[in-house]
Amino acid sequence: MIISILGTGMVARSLAGRIAALGHQVFMGTRDKATTLDRPLGSQGGPSFASWLQEIATLQLVNLEELPQETELFINATNGSATLSALTKISDRLKGKVLLDIANPLDFSNGMPPTLSICNDDSLGETIQRDFPDCKVVKSLNTMNAHLMVNPILLEGDHSVFMSGNDKEAKEKVKSLLVQFGWQTKNIIDLGDIKTARGSEMLLPIWLRLWGVLNTAEFNFNIVRKD
Ligand SMILES: NC(=O)c1ccc[n+]([C@@H]2O[C@H](COP(=O)([O-])OP(=O)(O)OC[C@H]3O[C@@H](n4cnc5c(N)ncnc54)[C@H](OP(=O)(O)O)[C@@H]3O)[C@@H](O)[C@H]2O)c1
Repeated sequence: MIISILGTGMVARSLAGRIAALGHQVFMGTRDKATTLDRPLGSQGGPSFASWLQEIATLQLVNLEELPQETELFINATNGSATLSALTKISDRLKGKVLLDIANPLDFSNGMPPTLSICNDDSLGETIQRDFPDCKVVKSLNTMNAHLMVNPILLEGDHSVFMSGNDKEAKEKVKSLLVQFGWQTKNIIDLGDIKTARGSEMLLPIWLRLWGVLNTAEFNFNIVRKD
């Protein structure tokens, strides 16, 4: 499958590496390819994006506008505040396509912890679906750390991933990718239509506080129920 990822941050790189290793052809879209290639991977420096990219043969970095028309699945891994402007650059290619949205509408303008810039009676997932009505938005994976998204076996036992979206087939496509990552179907919880993304996005305030008290980002929510 040809999969295009918007973004080059930690989430985009985790997904790109894992999806490429699964045998898919992966494109990553960035605002400026030359700047991104020169950028160090970490906030404190370290190897460049270019050296990371060299290790993965089936992965290509392009400017957002060059993400291929043939893409079968788009993945939004941009900063929540930049998501709409990034998607606008590829709006002509989104028609009829599935868009897996992992972004959270976090607002860091007043420092830590961030607040939600969209919440209660709306969500980023719904905003994307409204602004790009011809694409099929599926919100998922936004309630956990980037490493866990693509490697759920990093945690022992059952833990949950949520999914929201209006289109049944689009959710099946995303579910199939989640299963390839190692998610057990019993742990993939379909919350319903895209409005239910409000619930998963509003888990972020508790996720951020847990991160603070647990001193690790490698934890997840587990919904325990009677069979
Ligand atoms: N980090 C996690 O573990 C985690 C977990 C769950 C959900 N999320 C969500 O996943 C998303 C990605 O998170 P992240 O930690 O990988 O990185 P991030 O710092 O939130 O986002 C970085 C990406 O956003 C893009 N971006 C920033 N400003 C932009 C603009 N004005 N126009 C277009 N693109 C812009 C950058 O693109 P360029 O390549 O052009 O620089 C970069 O690739 C976020 O929405 C975050 O809330 C993150």
